[in-house]
Amino acid sequence: MRVLQVSAEIFPLLKTGGLADIAGALPQALAGVGCNVRALLPGFPAIGQVLQASRVVGEFRTPWGESVAVRLGQLAGVSGGAGPLSAYMLDAPGLFDRPGNPYEDAARRPYADNHRRFAALGWAAAHLAYGLDSDWTPQLVHCHDWHSALAPACLKLWPRPTPAAVPSLYTVHNLAYHGVFDASVFGELGLPPAAFAVDGLEFHGQVSFMKAGLYYADHISTVSPTYAREIQTPEQGCGLDGLLRARWDQLTGILNAVDEAVWDPAKDAHISHRYRPERLAGKALCKAALQGHSGLDQQADAPLFAMVSRITEQKGLPLLLAGVEEIVARGGQLLVLGSGDADLEQALQQQCQRHPGRVAVHLGYDEALAHRIFAGSDITLVPSLFEPCGLTQMYGLKYGSLPLVRGVGGLADTVTDADLATLEDQTATGFVFGPFTDAAYQHALRRAFALYRRPAAWARVRQTGMRQPLGWARAAQAYRALYQRMVAH
Ligand code: ADP
Ligand code: GLC
Repeated sequence: MRVLQVSAEIFPLLKTGGLADIAGALPQALAGVGCNVRALLPGFPAIGQVLQASRVVGEFRTPWGESVAVRLGQLAGVSGGAGPLSAYMLDAPGLFDRPGNPYEDAARRPYADNHRRFAALGWAAAHLAYGLDSDWTPQLVHCHDWHSALAPACLKLWPRPTPAAVPSLYTVHNLAYHGVFDASVFGELGLPPAAFAVDGLEFHGQVSFMKAGLYYADHISTVSPTYAREIQTPEQGCGLDGLLRARWDQLTGILNAVDEAVWDPAKDAHISHRYRPERLAGKALCKAALQGHSGLDQQADAPLFAMVSRITEQKGLPLLLAGVEEIVARGGQLLVLGSGDADLEQALQQQCQRHPGRVAVHLGYDEALAHRIFAGSDITLVPSLFEPCGLTQMYGLKYGSLPLVRGVGGLADTVTDADLATLEDQTATGFVFGPFTDAAYQHALRRAFALYRRPAAWARVRQTGMRQPLGWARAAQAYRALYQRMVAH
């Protein structure tokens, strides 16, 4: 099965969040179940610099008259199965050759021409499905998030060169990021006027790339079964729940997984001491090293709570900030690695100044430090308001840092709350709380402290967590089965 995977990011070359982790792991995982995957990516500098032995396979013209070449090469550092991943890249320096963040300028404002930049990504996918590369045509196009969401619309609305349609799967990683633009840009999207309608990509008088994906894709998936249900409700549907309910029978939740080639404490080159479930001595050494590196008191028996995250409301920062005193007063420590909202970053820094040796904050993005934090911490905090899947709670499980999560989306699907019953039958893996309130979050903190004071019980929960099957095999099979159904349709 030939699959074209379209995304704006790919680990380890370009990452702003979990989307990159998934886009980087999926090709290899799918190769393992017999799929032939190629990626299509924008020509960001981070991609162009490592695309090896590339050649132009074709060109297309944008509605505003620019010519865009599509290159095919090998992405060094990303596995596509037997060798490096074969990838197509949009060779359009005018659109993509900009330093820093792929979506925003230095002042953190979205680029004014983002509709053009990501429309081009969707067109390129459709052109490839229509035979732009005479040597390889995908049987299915798998798009991720709004950046690639114009592809399903083009595949439905453009005149088709051959009778056989190429189906598209659209995976929603986060419904909250819509890719919404002023109606005036519609003329630049290369779609027939009828598409700007309620039955199309119009959303409250504006253009929504997200809606293009949801409306025109042959099938929609999202990254956990619980989130697939939640987005069909007005509370979590971001205004698109009606459309999602209408398409409920073409909407599937496939839980994300962990790339164990990257996230495994027994092999991780980023951490000071490697360890495994049956030999955990290295974890205590990792904790001491992390405390030392972060300016936290070197206290082995202080439970170390950690968060590695975008610093936003979604990730539960209001709860985290209000709960700092509870952690410190009970003798715990808090370490945060993240970047995002300036006000929340500042509030974190104030907490750090107020509690020297007990609270540490690293602002910025640091992949190696993230690994060291999962290895060195005792509890991974993910108190999200909503969470399509969430990856850090799974990294916490693998690294023996018990996740403390709110029971929403993929968090509910991956963590089993420690209560008397789950402790007794040894299925507990962490702490799950319900309402998005300070009281509920802080009660979960107290439960974590209580369990920490029972080392034998703590060790059992940690063992169960570390031994969870979180690898890609199951998800890869689910995607392949879905692809097969779609292609056969
Ligand atoms: P989201 O995609 O919503 O941000 P996920 O939990 O799915 O959340 O994925 C976040 C990914 O980004 C994880 O791999 C996490 O380790 C990583 N990450 C987030 N913030 C940072 C940071 N400041 N430094 C390093 N890695 C980070
Ligand atoms: C999004 C979601 C996150 C998910 C990730 C990968 O960024 O916010 O929950 O884990 O995509 O699918």
